[in-house]
Amino acid sequence: MINANPSVEAHYEALESQWNSVDGSLEFERLVVPTGNSDKPFHRWFHLKEAFSVDLLPTILKQLSFEGMSELRVLDCFAGGGTTLVSALEMSSEVRVTATGIEQNPFLHHVSSSKVRALQAGPHLAQQLRNAYEEVQRLYTSDAPFMASPPALSTFSNEAYFPPSLLTSLLRIKAAIEHCDAPALACDLLLTAAASCVESSSRLRRDGRALRYASERQPREPWVEFSIRVQQMIEDTDSSQSAAGMASVTLGDGRRPLLYIDESKKKDLVVFSPPYPNNIDYTEIYKTEAWYLGFYEDSEQFRSQRLRTLRSHPSVRFSDEYDYESSGDAEAVRELLKPILDAVPDDRYATGRRQLIKGYADDMLTLFRHCRKIISSEGRLVYVVGNSAHGSGNALFVIAADLMMARLAELSNWHVEEISVARSLRRRITNSRFLRESVVTLSPG
Ligand SMILES: C[S@@+](CC[C@H](N)C(=O)[O-])C[C@H]1O[C@@H](n2cnc3c(N)ncnc32)[C@H](O)[C@@H]1O
Repeated sequence: MINANPSVEAHYEALESQWNSVDGSLEFERLVVPTGNSDKPFHRWFHLKEAFSVDLLPTILKQLSFEGMSELRVLDCFAGGGTTLVSALEMSSEVRVTATGIEQNPFLHHVSSSKVRALQAGPHLAQQLRNAYEEVQRLYTSDAPFMASPPALSTFSNEAYFPPSLLTSLLRIKAAIEHCDAPALACDLLLTAAASCVESSSRLRRDGRALRYASERQPREPWVEFSIRVQQMIEDTDSSQSAAGMASVTLGDGRRPLLYIDESKKKDLVVFSPPYPNNIDYTEIYKTEAWYLGFYEDSEQFRSQRLRTLRSHPSVRFSDEYDYESSGDAEAVRELLKPILDAVPDDRYATGRRQLIKGYADDMLTLFRHCRKIISSEGRLVYVVGNSAHGSGNALFVIAADLMMARLAELSNWHVEEISVARSLRRRITNSRFLRESVVTLSPG
């Protein structure tokens, strides 16, 4: 077991001692992961491994004693698969809900926005989906000589990853949906269903960090998979009432919600789980689905997409400029980051790691400043984040995003109410108690 860098650990001890840090494992351990999402209507349409649980929002509302409110205006700046928004809409029979999401990944935006549109559409959507599915089936099985061309991503031409007959089938499903004359929402849902078959029709597996080749994997037949998923959508929309609340997801930059939301439109609750500073690159992990749906046409568009994401990964070289450097908080941010930057080992990853630490802090400072302007006076901001170990051997150190973000929130005029430690991520490699996932609550300071 390796000891994590002791100066960094002491820095975290000192930071944490200023706030109320509690063991939140009882309430939150199972809610910071997607517990229950794959069984719940609407949530189950696409399995996002990095999602939090469908039960997280109700639990937070209970903890904050927000349950009896007549109105709930909620914002998720990193909407992902739309868990917050769908959960909020599901409460709209008891409370007037306005739920807003922002998501930068075009595929995940497609998934979350089509889910919330479906929830608001009501049961007539089920019939539209049935009709659309029948038409797609007719086109798919016909002799019509149409075919979507394979995406220009080399992964698709690797026959070990995508057996050719299955790829042909996947592409024909997409082409049939594009030729089908159905209402736009029904088509978007069928495209979500088709994209959610891409991984299972291949020998690729998302392992949490990357897409990996799994030679032992038996790819499934796309049309069968697609039909199962559309059937689930029909069942879910058939048995749901049209949600009374309002929800939408914007394709854009969640670090800057003021670009999309007027400052006068206050929120009661901002809740999000940003990408963690652990090198995971969502553009990479969900690339096959995004290329399949045609969101990128060439490698330049793919690279531009990466550059638009939060600086939580070193997959692209972001510009080495940081807004905090020219702000009144420059000294305080430098003081916060210095022990962590000093711990970065001088190896070939040094530049990328330093840029990640500074870039992540810079993005979070911007985010907290924006959110502070749109929170109502009695509102709260709750974030879920995981800390991560970097480096190896004697040079191992932890990036405690929960504490780093708490300090940056303070600098943005937030009060840190509670750091609730949801679960320990301690691995065999290190015994740092800061390797953990937390749920942090802020109130306007
Ligand atoms: C941890 S996931 C959120 C999952 C979400 N809570 C759920 O339950 O589905 C983080 C999300 O942030 C998105 N993201 C990354 N950079 C972003 C940015 N600049 N603006 C908005 N979203 C971004 C990623 O694409 C990813 O979907």
